[in-house]
Amino acid sequence: MKILVTGGTGYIGSHTVVELQNRGYDVVIADNLSNSYEYVVDRIEQITGKRPDFHRIDLTHKEQTADLFKQHSVLSGVIHFAAFKAVGESMENPLDYYRNNLDSLINVLEGMKNNSIRNIVFSSSCTVYGQPDELPVKETSPIKEAWSPYGNTKQMSEDIIRFAVNAHGLKSIALRYFNPIGAHDSALIGELPLGVPNNLVPFITQTAIGKRKSLKVFGSDYNTHDGTAIRDYIHVVDLAQAHVVAIDRMIDNRSKLDFEIFNLGTGNGFSVLDVVKSFEKVAGQKLNYELTDRRPGDIEKVWADTSFANAELGWSAKRNIDDMMRSAWKWELALSDNK
Ligand code: WQD
Repeated sequence: MKILVTGGTGYIGSHTVVELQNRGYDVVIADNLSNSYEYVVDRIEQITGKRPDFHRIDLTHKEQTADLFKQHSVLSGVIHFAAFKAVGESMENPLDYYRNNLDSLINVLEGMKNNSIRNIVFSSSCTVYGQPDELPVKETSPIKEAWSPYGNTKQMSEDIIRFAVNAHGLKSIALRYFNPIGAHDSALIGELPLGVPNNLVPFITQTAIGKRKSLKVFGSDYNTHDGTAIRDYIHVVDLAQAHVVAIDRMIDNRSKLDFEIFNLGTGNGFSVLDVVKSFEKVAGQKLNYELTDRRPGDIEKVWADTSFANAELGWSAKRNIDDMMRSAWKWELALSDNK
């Protein structure tokens, strides 16, 4: 059976392609390489021994996307990652974010409708919850007004899918990620931020390897155990495996609703300084960091209630924070070896 993975050379996409191929699926990747590199296809083949079929394509182009679906009209499902995903960047270029993230989704759904492809897993985000009123946050927790165009595109995408599913007899599972970090144990694929990393963990490892002078800890006056903000970090391989569970569920007709939503987290919240301490432990070296002001737009604390995903999907995150940081460090070391 063949699965189309859009954004499949990206961070979470590439790890998901590996897990799909390990599961025995054939994979087609569609990616415009705006935030990833084609050599990731070679790395996936190195890991699994199977080469995904790669198409460099901009999914915001209606005709290109329609042609892709004509070429691969017999698909068992789609996993849709392709999107811009930097919160700060979306504040500066909201129109690019709406056009890119929504047009690409609409073109993919259209391709599915026109080729009778029923199943789509959608890459969503806990950012749809904003700062939850109560923790841990459940799938039924209220969706707050978006704090960024990025988060808004995730909320709007879920609504677009909800209506398309009803109108065109599709099935969908939206996976709301918490904070994906870490890398595949082979250190052949991992997070590849372009330029200065926005996210915490690549900034930590780049500081430790000497690419950055020191980590700025954004805020030390939050109402948390050590004053720094709390997130639910989840290993990217745990996350990738959840996508295989989700596509299997739909293909095997085990979905209970045509559109299901699951939180993908560990259920554990860690502060920025907790993550730094974990890194120092697994890397065996001190990290240069300084406590600075809060970053505008950041929420204080969030972690997932994972009971619904655990019970319904029969999936739970297996890797702990030290596993995540150890794999992130191994990946950073491999990147510098390949310089
Ligand atoms: C984590 C914590 C920062 C960098 C975002 C998106 C989310 C998802 C993941 C796409 C926060 C602190 C960070 C630094 C720091 N993206 N931090 N110094 O903001 O929780 O989530 O990325 O799907 O949708 O919202 O992740 O890694 O940027 O920050 O102190 O140099 O680390 O303040 O508390 P975030 P992050």
